[in-house]
Amino acid sequence: MMTKKDIIAFLNCRDKKEIDSFFNQAYKIKLDNVGNKVYLRGIIELSNICTKDCFYCGIRKSNNKVNRFCMSEKDIIESALFSHNNRHGSVVLQSGERCDIEFIDFIEKIIKTIKKETNGKLGITLSLGEQAKDTYKRWFDAGAHRYLLRIETSDESFYKRLHPEDHDYKNRLNCLKWLKEIGYQTGTGVMIGLPGQSYESLAADIYFFKDNDIDMIGMGPYVLHENTPLASRNIFNPDRNFELGLKMIALTRVNIKDINIAATTALQTLNPDGYRLGLKAGANIVMPNITPLKYRKDYQLYEGKAFLNESSEGYIDFLANQVKLIGEEIGYSEWGDSPHFYNKKTNNNLV
Ligand code: 5AD
Repeated sequence: MMTKKDIIAFLNCRDKKEIDSFFNQAYKIKLDNVGNKVYLRGIIELSNICTKDCFYCGIRKSNNKVNRFCMSEKDIIESALFSHNNRHGSVVLQSGERCDIEFIDFIEKIIKTIKKETNGKLGITLSLGEQAKDTYKRWFDAGAHRYLLRIETSDESFYKRLHPEDHDYKNRLNCLKWLKEIGYQTGTGVMIGLPGQSYESLAADIYFFKDNDIDMIGMGPYVLHENTPLASRNIFNPDRNFELGLKMIALTRVNIKDINIAATTALQTLNPDGYRLGLKAGANIVMPNITPLKYRKDYQLYEGKAFLNESSEGYIDFLANQVKLIGEEIGYSEWGDSPHFYNKKTNNNLV
């Protein structure tokens, strides 16, 4: 593990050669530890109805300019089957946060139906926010096997500045603990380049991933959204955030070798080569958006989101091309689970 001081020095580094050489090192570590296959997760953004009010997010409940939707069960299942037929190993079900019983039942039913209709073949990752332990357990028993819950920042006092009073950092930590206890492959992540975020704080985030024995990382640059309290055009620097996003991927890969790391949409939003450069900095997962086009414009967590008007087929083709360009392969129809999840299990058994 690099020291925090070395991590901060790299985040500060402006020397192009030095940065590239670190990315190459991260890339090699990726090939040696998780191989040269990129795994696909089709993401279905099934609803933008949200009970939370995060200061950075475009679908926060106070943003009354958003047209709220919830996809029908039929549309969700159809999207999942589209992913399956396009040989994606898994889908991600993501939505705004809701904890009411109708929602819990609805998701449980969808998980069961997807499993049934694909003979258990399609892997299911959930990204549905903070829930009760019971709810996580129900969804796990229904057939979901991975869960993504970003900590957003591991710095508790900074977390407080990004969220209203009733959002609780400690509860988020508890959720991550429960997910692991239940047996999910557990993913987390942060936003990178938030107004007021220090390099010390980003270095601490890498330690957080390590110390919490996280299996998967989905993190990306912060991108401004106009109708949010955090929006400040003077502070927002897309190029800087993009470069920091790549540096964080590389730092995570170098320090935690056997986990899955996604090249996220936010990277692609800030740079037309975002996915490819993310993969070259150490990421091994991409998530084509397969939400039906008619809903996409209403799920803008940030502005200018990539592929807002691109068909799901076009999105998939684009990604396949990016992977080809760097000479890697796509792990078609494979789950592509985090090796870390199994390595850790083996180690635990030995103790
Ligand atoms: N910029 C980048 N990422 C964002 N998210 C929410 N708002 C933004 C933004 N303005 C991310 C959060 C959340 C994930 C679903 O989207 O990290 O966990």
